[in-house]
Amino acid sequence: MTQVNSIQDNSPLLPGFKLGKFLINPPIALAPMAGITDLPFRRVCRRFGIGLTVTEMIASRAVGQGRERTERMAELDDNESPVSIQIAGSDSKFVVEAALWAQERGADFIDINMGCPVKKVVKQIAGSAMLRDEPLVARVIDAVVKAVEVPVTLKIRTGWDEQSKNVENIARIAENHGIQMLTVHGRTRAQMFNGHANWFDIGRAKSVVSIPVIGNGDIIDGDSAIEMVKQSGCDGVMIGRAVQGNPWVLAEVHAALMGLPKPAAPAADEVWGVVLEHMLHLADFHGIARASKLARKHVPWYSKGWKGSAEFRSNFQKVHTWPEQMEAAKAYFLTLSEKELTPELLLAN
Ligand SMILES: Cc1cc2nc3c(=O)[nH]c(=O)nc-3n(C[C@H](O)[C@H](O)[C@H](O)COP(=O)(O)O)c2cc1C
Repeated sequence: MTQVNSIQDNSPLLPGFKLGKFLINPPIALAPMAGITDLPFRRVCRRFGIGLTVTEMIASRAVGQGRERTERMAELDDNESPVSIQIAGSDSKFVVEAALWAQERGADFIDINMGCPVKKVVKQIAGSAMLRDEPLVARVIDAVVKAVEVPVTLKIRTGWDEQSKNVENIARIAENHGIQMLTVHGRTRAQMFNGHANWFDIGRAKSVVSIPVIGNGDIIDGDSAIEMVKQSGCDGVMIGRAVQGNPWVLAEVHAALMGLPKPAAPAADEVWGVVLEHMLHLADFHGIARASKLARKHVPWYSKGWKGSAEFRSNFQKVHTWPEQMEAAKAYFLTLSEKELTPELLLAN
């Protein structure tokens, strides 16, 4: 099974960097994704060569309301380190409260979200909407940095829209007010997830600060990771959507940064091993009812690119109980595995 997180060597291209008392090496981070990067998913990804994980975004106003769901979003594994808890909000009082709460829960770093483009968040002048109000950015950062002991990091987009890109200003403000690492998703808010991330814009942030800058947006494999590093000069990379159903991409990016050959694609039985592990973590952490809902999202992703994927995806949505989901996933991936081993297929390849 692919496992590279024991590798200590430095990448000649991205040697890693210090953040507080931690060495971020490999400088590869799993992007925070609401509804996806829960503890079970982060557990699966950890083994594939990442140097930093981040929780899903937690709304600062939700903290203190005593909801179990919020508490679970901040749950970390004992051996999950270094890890950031990401918080969002624009009212310093609530953001500070959330940061202190996150620190208490064992976060090695507090990451502030100023990149979320979602309407509900933007309406409250949080997430990416904050980029339009630079004094507000400074105030919120100031308040959090003063309140907590752990390093505070920031995740941004490159601005509100093409006409008002202010990635350099925000980067400078961040560094001047005590942010210790900056992640830049190379899109404006107006772009949502459309078009392509502008990796040169990540470089614009990098060129005006001396804190580490993590590049994010549209890394899909080793080659794209290398290209982003070259275009932006970033100190680390963050990968999100490409990891859904494909944690192996993390090992591929790691190999590319190390100048090593691309690892072999996983065999179907190896994929099944990871799907099973993921499903067991989901059930263990969330309980069967919620695990079942989440599996409907995650499990079909693992079939992408495999024979019969479209049919499997459609059939999997029709299966409702947890044992049936397990059975359906096992039958699909193990049948693929058997097919792979038939002499006809070996010859055909
Ligand atoms: C479903 C989904 C949920 C996301 N949730 C968050 C979040 O909670 N916090 C955050 O900073 N970014 C969030 N993002 C943005 C990602 O962290 C990342 O910036 C973006 O997907 C671009 O990177 P990628 O091209 O590697 O996916 C989310 C993205 C997606 C697709």
